[in-house]
Amino acid sequence: MTSNLSGKKVVIIGGTAGIGLATAIAAAEQGAQVWAAGRSEANLEKARAASNGKFELRQADTHDAEALEAIFREVGKIDHLVSAAVGGERTLKPFLEQTEEQFKAAYDKLWGYAKVVRTGAPYLADDGAITLVSGSPARKIKPGQSPLSCVGASVENLVRCLAVEMAPVRVNVVSPGTIDTAMFDWMGDEKADKLSAMTSSHLIPRAGSSEEVAEGLLFVMNNKFVTGTTVDVDGGRILS
Ligand SMILES: NC(=O)c1ccc[n+]([C@@H]2O[C@H](COP(=O)([O-])OP(=O)(O)OC[C@H]3O[C@@H](n4cnc5c(N)ncnc54)[C@H](OP(=O)(O)O)[C@@H]3O)[C@@H](O)[C@H]2O)c1
Repeated sequence: MTSNLSGKKVVIIGGTAGIGLATAIAAAEQGAQVWAAGRSEANLEKARAASNGKFELRQADTHDAEALEAIFREVGKIDHLVSAAVGGERTLKPFLEQTEEQFKAAYDKLWGYAKVVRTGAPYLADDGAITLVSGSPARKIKPGQSPLSCVGASVENLVRCLAVEMAPVRVNVVSPGTIDTAMFDWMGDEKADKLSAMTSSHLIPRAGSSEEVAEGLLFVMNNKFVTGTTVDVDGGRILS
């Protein structure tokens, strides 16, 4: 299959680490012109090294419309607008043990994604596409994950709403399972063991890689007959 990304302009907010960075690398390998953005200089620096000069890096927060707009203006007509940013707190506690603020803070991810879409939409090509990232807790309910579940489900529903309202622009979402990224670096030296334990009951009993999830993003970006869809790249987590 030939790539549709050759010569396309791709902007990835949350593209300086993990899934977003793997998507930036894969899109650039397919011949796209890529701009990847994130907040911290530390991640930008690492991504610059990983980019091998093959794509552009910019600083932006999903909540900062001015910084986003500066990137979009520079790019001009955007073929693919992607957000893979974390963008919100991840409180892992039963609902009744969370503060109201902790529960609300998870929704920063949704508000950030909404800002990326609202700010980027005027720059999208007529046959452009938007791709967001949710997460398996949206449909795999486990105790202590209500913030992740609720915000993930909201991202997936926003995608369906946007697909209907913005057609023929295509809008899709990829839902990762447990993926070995910096999101779990807080586990320190126990990260590998903890990820093994977390995934031992999954149909594919291991953590996934950023590159495997990036393949899911590239699929919905490339396939012109796919819109309003959630693609699970989760090792069967939601069935386990
Ligand atoms: N890893 C998993 O197991 C997993 C599971 C389910 C869902 N997900 C979802 O997958 C997406 C990517 O996660 P990941 O695991 O690849 O995380 P990651 O390795 O921590 O990378 C996150 C990227 O987003 C950027 N970012 C975070 N907040 C941002 C903001 N407010 N504005 C702009 N950029 C921001 C980060 O850079 P800066 O911090 O420097 O800004 C980084 O480039 C997230 O939406 C996450 O919720 C991940």
